[in-house]
Amino acid sequence: MAFDFDAPFSRVGTDSVKWDINEEIFGRSDVIPLWVADMDFPAPKEVSEALCARAAHGAFGYTIYPEEFYDVFINWAKNRYNWDIHREWMVNSHGVVEAINTAIQCFTTINDPVLIQTPVYQPFFKSIRNNERQLVTSPLIETPAGYEMDFADLETKFASGVKMMILCSPHNPVGRVWRRDELVRLAQLLVRYNVLLISDEIHADIIYPGYRQIPIATLDETLARQCITLYAPGKTFNIAGLTTAVTIIPDEELRTQYCDFSNKMGEHIGNTLGITAFIAAYKYGSPWLDALNQYVWSNYQFVKHFVAEYIPQLRVTAQQGTFLLWLDCRNLPMKATECSRFFIDKAGLGLNDGTWFGKDGAGFMRMNIACRRSLIQQALEQLQNAVEHL
Ligand SMILES: Cc1ncc(COP(=O)(O)O)c(C=O)c1O
Repeated sequence: MAFDFDAPFSRVGTDSVKWDINEEIFGRSDVIPLWVADMDFPAPKEVSEALCARAAHGAFGYTIYPEEFYDVFINWAKNRYNWDIHREWMVNSHGVVEAINTAIQCFTTINDPVLIQTPVYQPFFKSIRNNERQLVTSPLIETPAGYEMDFADLETKFASGVKMMILCSPHNPVGRVWRRDELVRLAQLLVRYNVLLISDEIHADIIYPGYRQIPIATLDETLARQCITLYAPGKTFNIAGLTTAVTIIPDEELRTQYCDFSNKMGEHIGNTLGITAFIAAYKYGSPWLDALNQYVWSNYQFVKHFVAEYIPQLRVTAQQGTFLLWLDCRNLPMKATECSRFFIDKAGLGLNDGTWFGKDGAGFMRMNIACRRSLIQQALEQLQNAVEHL
């Protein structure tokens, strides 16, 4: 079946965070928004059809999670990540960020050290700080072949008493799909120092050709018992607004603790339309996702070649997945703090400033490439023109 990701598709006027609040975010309404992590493509048609059919019924009362909800995800995880997830390991949630906050509150106490690898998705920082835990960072190491984990630094920090780590796998914003050897080494350290792991795998399905997502919990049985893995169809199928996610907790004791805590927080019911979309997406969305992955990868190649040829002052970092591209702008003749305004005011582009992901993101910009290629081309031409006028 053919999927046309080049087709024009407007989200303006849908109360879209990406398209309808430019003025508020960037101070200008006319920027091309290439920031927040959703896509400018409609979800697979089976998802919209299932939602329309459900909406046509007209009643939206309290809804259970039917067995099919669990079955479709178990199937998906087997086919996509080669993970045999047991039904009882699955706990429902309304979102990955919510689950991270729940786990922090449930398994750590005030001032407990929680580690993240920077630069990283900003809500990781917030979830630690908002809950008054101690933020411990382990900066990734930048290499020409992409970013790497700093195992010596991780070990030092684990040895000093870190209680929990939040792993981003694949990593937003640097686009690393972690290799087996890296994950095995990390798992060994986590087990040795008894650090509880939250593995945020929300980007697990956007993987470039030749790479494969490996859930860290599949690599070490002991680690699996101290690991909570988070998934959601929000990024994969562009249904983040339907707020339905799953948390995988193989260890019974951890799971009971987590569920008891969620109950105390009053989490007791799912989102009717979110459940419908979740089931349709994982049941029918595979061909669409394969085509999407091909398209996103081609966009990545397109940006890489365009930048190398026409804007050599910039550099596209080596990535293996995600629709979020990490652009090195440190060679532009300006201070890192001026980068964002340059992109907005001179190039007419709304990207994420690298420092949103931590101070080691200074001089970088994150560009969302999940949109039609003609828009990316327009954005790059505007950027080229702005850089040439510096
Ligand atoms: C690494 C990561 N985790 C979580 C989320 C958000 O997840 P949710 O919308 O399910 O809370 C994002 C969104 O960009 C993300 O990049």
